[in-house]
Order: sequence, then structure tokens, then C-alpha cells
Amino acid sequence: MAKLPLLEDLPPLDGKRVLLRADFNVPLDKSTGAITDDLRIRAALPTIQWLQGQGAQVVACSHLGRPKGAPDPKYSMEPVRARLAELAPGVELLENLRFDAGEEGNDPAFVATLVEGMDAYVDDAFGAAHRAHASIVGPPQSLPSAAGRLLAREVEVLMGLRESPKRPFVAVLGGSKVSDKLGVIDALLGVCDKLVIGGGMCFTFLAAQNRSIGDSLCEEDQIDTCRRLLKEAGDRIVLPEDIRVLGPNDDVRDVGTDVPKGYKGLDIGPYSGAIFSDVIDTARTVFWNGPMGVFEDPRFEAGTRTVAQAVADCQGFTVVGGGDSAAAAAQFGLDKQIDHVSTGGGASLELLEQGDLPGLEALRNAPNAR
Ligand code: 3PG
Ligand code: MG
Repeated sequence: MAKLPLLEDLPPLDGKRVLLRADFNVPLDKSTGAITDDLRIRAALPTIQWLQGQGAQVVACSHLGRPKGAPDPKYSMEPVRARLAELAPGVELLENLRFDAGEEGNDPAFVATLVEGMDAYVDDAFGAAHRAHASIVGPPQSLPSAAGRLLAREVEVLMGLRESPKRPFVAVLGGSKVSDKLGVIDALLGVCDKLVIGGGMCFTFLAAQNRSIGDSLCEEDQIDTCRRLLKEAGDRIVLPEDIRVLGPNDDVRDVGTDVPKGYKGLDIGPYSGAIFSDVIDTARTVFWNGPMGVFEDPRFEAGTRTVAQAVADCQGFTVVGGGDSAAAAAQFGLDKQIDHVSTGGGASLELLEQGDLPGLEALRNAPNAR
């Protein structure tokens, strides 16, 4: 991938107005509306401080949640504005970009309102760089533009996994759906030494091995694909060998990989946790995305906790994809022991899969980068 324009590639910024696209899509408490994790706001601070240090007036913008193209008080930027004012005084913050349908529609008229009065554009919204939305791909068409520190670091780390991982490279995938992850599974199998699979998606793989999976999640239409992947990858794919299940009378127990009728697999079992940990332990590079089970429920958190601990303990370079796995690592207090916790969930998977994102392409085509 050609180089992204960086902050140093911008013209002098003293007294200039800089539009900063950040990903301040932070989790909010359902009942109080308070921010439950401000990681994404803190992650933008190095860029904001650099811009302010150059004498720029920073005008930040972000989406929050998924409002439907019209103002919705539930998704007001107010809590973010309050937190941002504490962390980075003097930054202006626009209202939720998705209150205007022009954002997701990438409407040129909406782009025009965003860039009006601005002298430069900085994209630090890694978590949204896979969206070809107005605020992401529009401003670089006319303004001198740059990747912020966070975006540049995310791209460096994730492209490094694709292009030059230290070996052995172990990828660990979880989460519920195979269909969501097929692209990334293919891409990872092209580069990793072992692909460890847990979470709800492992049952479609187990079904492809003709195991009985009881009432566990299964995507019938993906069984053939899983069979092909297993055939191609051979023992590079590591599957669980025991499963923690929930039974018809709410009983929880561990079974082998044949799950009885009426039982639903909701976590990997302890033996699998040990196998997965051993594989992770040998790695010089680890990428982990997706929980091993429904870790929000204490009865089914052990597998995810074990994997998170193994990643934290691994001597190699460790990367955790955003979203649920980042939340799990933080919930277990292990996030500080991981080399790179991505702020992007979908974005990190898409970058691994495709080696590029709409937001990155837009920056590379900015007037100051060409
Ligand atoms: C995220 O949290 O995944 C990013 O902020 C992108 O949000 P979106 O999935 O609603 O586009
Ligand atoms: Mg998302």
C-alpha cells in the first residue's frame, strides 16, 4: 500500500481550522446514557495535542450509534462533548454526523457543509475507515489531508500482520457467525501458521466434521465452505475438543465435541482452553478477534478469559481486534498487557482481509499526497 499522508505532510497550521474526523462511537450505559468506556476518546488525544501544538483550531466530528439520518436525542454527542472538554479543552465538536442522511449517503452537499471554512482535514477515525461515508471520503477530495497518529499506528500494526508477521503467527477467531468472518478466515489462512477457532462459529466447523452439535448455533449454508477450509488448511485449523454446554434444565456441564440433543454449546471447555493456550504460548505474533463464548454470562466466560490470559502472557507481539474481544480483555483487566488493542472491530477485520479501506484510499488521493 502506498504511504498515507501524515500530520507532518500538512501545510503550516498556525491559526488554521482543522476538521478532525474521529471515531467517538463510544459505548453508552443503556439506562443512564453515561459513557462506559472512553478509550476511543483518549485514543485521539495524541493527534489533537499535536494539532493544538501547531496552533490549529481543532473542529472534531464523529458518528455515535446508528441514528437513522435524522436527529435523535438518544444519540446526542453531549456526553462525548463533556468528556472531550475534560480531556482536551478548546476542541469544538460537531453534532452527530449521522443525524444527517448525507453522511451515510456520502452526499456531496453534506461534504460541502463539513469542509466549509476548514483549511485541512485529519482522519483519526480508524474504527470507521471501512465506511465510505461523507466525513471519511469527502474532505480529502478538496482539503490537504493526513492520517492522525491513531489511524497511522492501526494501519502499521494490522498491515504488518498481513505482510511481515514474525512466525509462528497464530490467529484466534471467535464470535458467533462464520458468514461474517469468511473473508478474514481466507485472508488469515493465507498468512498465519495456526488458526484457532472458538465461539459460536466453531459449531459450523464441527458440523462440517460430521459431529453432532445439539442445539448449538449452526449456519447450515456455510457447512460446505467450512468443509473446504478444513480440507485446505488441514491441521493449521485448531478447533475445540470439549464444549461447555447449557442443558434443558439450565444445567451447565462440559462435554466432548459431540453435543447431545437439547444442549447448547456456549463456551469452549477447559481442555480446549489449555490446548488453545499452548498454541498461543508458542506464537511470536498473535491476532485475536472474537470471544470464545458468551462471556457476558459468568457461567460461560472461562474460555474467553483463558484465551485473553494466554494472549496477555504471550512473549510475542500481540494484537486484539476491537469490539467484543477488546471489551473482554478490558473486563478481565488484561488490556494493558496486550501490545496493540485496536479501536476498530469491523475496520480491523476488513483491513486484514482486503489490505485497504475506503478511508485510507481517500487520504492517499488527497491534493497534498498526490
Ligand atoms: C464501530 O463501532 O464499529 C465503528 O464506530 C463504526 O460504526 P458502524 O459499525 O455503526 O459503522
Ligand atoms: Mg461496527
